Amino acid sequence: MNQLDFKGRTAAVTGGAMGIGLAVAQRLAASGARVALWDRDEQALAAAKATLPDDTRAFALDVTDAATVARVAQATAAALGAVDVLVCSAGITGPNVPLADYPVDDWKRVFDVNVHGVFLCNRAVVPLMKAKDYGRIVNIASVAGKEGNPNASAYSASKAAVIGLTKSLGKELARTGIRVNCVTPAAVRTAIFDQMTQQHIDFMLSKIPLGRFGTVDEIAALVCWLASEDCSFSTGAVFDLSGGRAPRRPFAPPFRGEGADRRRAAPEHSLAPRSGAERGRRACSAPPERPARASAGAPCKGGSG
Ligand SMILES: NC(=O)c1ccc[n+]([C@@H]2O[C@H](COP(=O)([O-])OP(=O)(O)OC[C@H]3O[C@@H](n4cnc5c(N)ncnc54)[C@H](O)[C@@H]3O)[C@@H](O)[C@H]2O)c1
Repeated sequence: MNQLDFKGRTAAVTGGAMGIGLAVAQRLAASGARVALWDRDEQALAAAKATLPDDTRAFALDVTDAATVARVAQATAAALGAVDVLVCSAGITGPNVPLADYPVDDWKRVFDVNVHGVFLCNRAVVPLMKAKDYGRIVNIASVAGKEGNPNASAYSASKAAVIGLTKSLGKELARTGIRVNCVTPAAVRTAIFDQMTQQHIDFMLSKIPLGRFGTVDEIAALVCWLASEDCSFSTGAVFDLSGGRAPRRPFAPPFRGEGADRRRAAPEHSLAPRSGAERGRRACSAPPERPARASAGAPCKGGSG
C-alpha cells in the first residue's frame, strides 16, 4: 500500500463502520491520520474501531439527523482537535424496482440518507474547516449518478444530487484552503449488495469493461489521495472509479464486450458532438458526390454555416 502523509491530520468518515468507509478509515489511519468513525450501526462500529489504532473515536449517529450531526461534528473537533478531512460514505441503495412501482417512502428514505445526509455532514464541517482555512471533503457518489441504472431511480438520482452538491460546494469554497470532490465508483462487493437483487448485481457487473467488481482498497486509494494535501488543484470535481465503464465519449455506442472497441475505433471526430461552427466547416468540405444539405442553396461562409 502506498502511504500518504496524514501526520497531524484528523478525519471523520461517515459509514466508517464497514465497506468502503472502513477501508478509507484504515488507509487514513495507516498513513498517520487520527480518525473518527461516524455510523449508525453500533455493533459494526465497535468491530471497526477494534481494527484501528487506539486513538480512533467512534460516534453512533444517523446522518439524517441534523442536530446529532452538528453535535457529533463539534464533539469530533473537540476530541481530535479539528476535522481536517470529511469522507461521506454512508449510503443505502433502496429497492430495485421500476420507477412506476417505486414505494414513495423508500424514495424519500434513499434521498434522506444519500443526499440530506451528505448535505448535513458537509454543512456541519465547513465552518470548522473554514476556521482553519484548511479542509478536504470527499463525497462517495456512484457511476449510477452519471449514467442512471434502470430499476434504481432513487439511488441514481440521489447520487446525481451528490455530484451536483459537490460541484456547487467546491466552487463556493474554491478561494479557501478547502477542496471538495467526489468519486463515482462502479460496483464493489460489500454488505450493500445485500440490499440489491441478484439481477441488478449481474447487470452492474455486465457494464464493467474490466469484467470484475472493484475492491474497497481500490476505492480507498483514490479517496485518500483526494483527502490529502497533495490534492490542491482539484475541487468540485468528479473522479471515476468504474473499471472503464464511465469514460465513454458522449453518443458512443454502448459497451458490448470484446470487439466493441474495434467497432468504434473510427476516428475520434466521427461520433463526437460538434459545435455549430464545426458542423458548418464539415458541410462546406463535403465531397461533391455526397453534397451536404447545408450547402444546397445558401453559400457556406467560413465556420458559421
Ligand atoms: N459498494 C458499491 O458497489 C458502491 C458503488 C458505488 C457507490 N457506493 C457508495 O459507497 C458508499 C459506501 O458503500 P458500501 O458499499 O461501503 O456500503 P456498506 O453497506 O458496506 O456501508 C455503508 C455504511 O453506511 C452506514 N449507514 C447507512 N445509513 C446510515 C445512516 N443513515 N447514518 C449513518 N450511517 C449509515 C451503514 O451502517 C454502513 O456502515 C455508499 O454511499 C454507496 O452508495 C457503493
